Amino acid sequence: MKAKSLRGRDFLAETDFTREEIETILDVAQDLKRERAKGVPHDQLLRGKTLFMIFYNQSLRTRNSFEAGMTQLGGHAHYLDPDKIYTPAMEGREVAYSTERVSDVARVLDRMGDAIAIRCYGDPVDWEYGGAHAMLQEFARWSEIPVLNMEDDVYHPFQGLADILTVKEKFGGFKGVKFTMSWAYSPSVHKPRAVPQSAILYATMMGMDVTLAHPKGMELDPKILAQCEAYAATYSGTFRISNDFEGAMEGAHVVYPKAWCATPIFQPPVGESDGKKTQAIFDEHKDWICTQRTMALADQSAIYMHCLPCDRGFEVANDVIDKTSGTGWLSAAFDEAENRLHVQKAVMSLVM
Ligand code: CP
Repeated sequence: MKAKSLRGRDFLAETDFTREEIETILDVAQDLKRERAKGVPHDQLLRGKTLFMIFYNQSLRTRNSFEAGMTQLGGHAHYLDPDKIYTPAMEGREVAYSTERVSDVARVLDRMGDAIAIRCYGDPVDWEYGGAHAMLQEFARWSEIPVLNMEDDVYHPFQGLADILTVKEKFGGFKGVKFTMSWAYSPSVHKPRAVPQSAILYATMMGMDVTLAHPKGMELDPKILAQCEAYAATYSGTFRISNDFEGAMEGAHVVYPKAWCATPIFQPPVGESDGKKTQAIFDEHKDWICTQRTMALADQSAIYMHCLPCDRGFEVANDVIDKTSGTGWLSAAFDEAENRLHVQKAVMSLVM
């Protein structure tokens, strides 16, 4: 595949890319990671280029990895707070002199810079599932420069890339790797579904043996699940869903327990806009926590993964996430966080 074929492309969802294209991105990420480790500068790649970043939600990793990445590639990342500009809004959601239609914002920024990155989920779209992804698609429809998804309400494609790069580094490839993505309890019921959905999409695309574990009521988007089935069939992996936390961990090479919201939190027709019902489902499953006992069920060479931020003492015990060296299973959560930098630099250098 010619790397040129990625130039100018939007990066909104992993399903927009072929497996070969994703493998190219991982190769470039590993090259850039090696160069950085050796002190070889690559600041000529995006010299003079600007990435506009619009964050409707908070962030530590995503904001800082994009900013650091653009600096290392020789460009500039410009942070935009939607409340300090005229908040980009879809037609029908506009407020005079307070918002600006997405089509107009996209066509102004594309005259000034080289890519637009956006994070939006949850409250800014009143928990209308898919509302944020539709807004990113609208940006992409109007923008002549690439639009990058820094997490919406359906996909977190850069997190997913960092996840599979971490797996590739730890296991040398994907064939035969048992990947368990599991729900875990959190005191917050407001975490989007994007991370687990992107994780299982990439894991099945790479042909791993994937288990999705969650209590009843925490189901993910049926379209994503159908795509995972299709990837598993195409790429000779497997995909199964379990409601048994400990059973799902048995023999796993990758243990990825994290909270996501329950379906009732979304607006109808997807959910019921029912925060109390959502809370009740969470409260029944406080025992879904990753501890040393959980890790002992996994393969001896297993890695613990989490996109971070994690809720220590709820999603995971301290002595799991902090075990980054020694014998047996290890936490790879901080390698995974670092890999955000490398995969994003790869995508930016290819599409911009
Ligand atoms: N994993 C992740 O996206 O982290 P932030 O919310 O800090 O960006």
